[in-house]
Amino acid sequence: MELTKTPNHVAIIMDGNGRWAKQRNLPRTAGHKAGAARVEEIIETSGNLGIKSLSLFAFSTENWKRPKNEIKNIMKLLEYYLKNNVEDLSKNGIRLNLLGDISKLDEALQNQLKLALLKTENNDKMMLNIGLNYGGQDEILRAVRGTLMDCIKMGKDPEEISKEYFEDHLDTAKQAMVDLLIRPSGEYRISNFLLYQCAYAEFWFSDILWPDFTKEKYLEALEDYANRQRRFGGVNV
Ligand code: FPP
Repeated sequence: MELTKTPNHVAIIMDGNGRWAKQRNLPRTAGHKAGAARVEEIIETSGNLGIKSLSLFAFSTENWKRPKNEIKNIMKLLEYYLKNNVEDLSKNGIRLNLLGDISKLDEALQNQLKLALLKTENNDKMMLNIGLNYGGQDEILRAVRGTLMDCIKMGKDPEEISKEYFEDHLDTAKQAMVDLLIRPSGEYRISNFLLYQCAYAEFWFSDILWPDFTKEKYLEALEDYANRQRRFGGVNV
């Protein structure tokens, strides 16, 4: 498919797994499994379309409030995904990057993630950002701390801190700001995802639940984006 305008950075809040399972009288974990199965097609399609960054929200700083068993299951799905897909990511030129603070995750998963980062570090076709123990407010706070620490170390005057210098301390350092944020499942909120990076993002909402988010739905969202008029605070002349 030829899009007249392709976003550089797409962010997706993969919501609705629990409701998808409930509709089928299945445990919530079955919804997450179906949700994880959707991920591969969306990553592949994004890479093929020339999207430069794809950000997926897998686990938020607030998701720790969920039942222990559900948390364990989401982490297992991630482990399974990495085990089976890192080679393919590499073959397809996709580089993995993590959003969030992974130090709270199980040590074995942390090691697996670090290895995946290493294995894909030389790829440059697309950046796959996975949000894990991620919160936008937490990211901004960490970036402020990182910026200040650097300034102290280098004796830099805070007045000299540029927008670019600050942005290099975000989890998305050197990547484009989000152009399109997709949220399925009928919720109309940003839920602490990429708050800074979504400053001028176009939003695309749908009632569809994440496990039903097919490649066709994704292309529909991208086509819709291609027809949006973006003014970034200016006017169209
Ligand atoms: C939100 O649905 C979904 C999550 C908190 C988990 C998302 C995780 C995956 C899809 C699996 C692993 C990801 C990768 C990258 C392989 P919800 O549980 O809040 O749904 P509900 O609002 O209907 O209850």
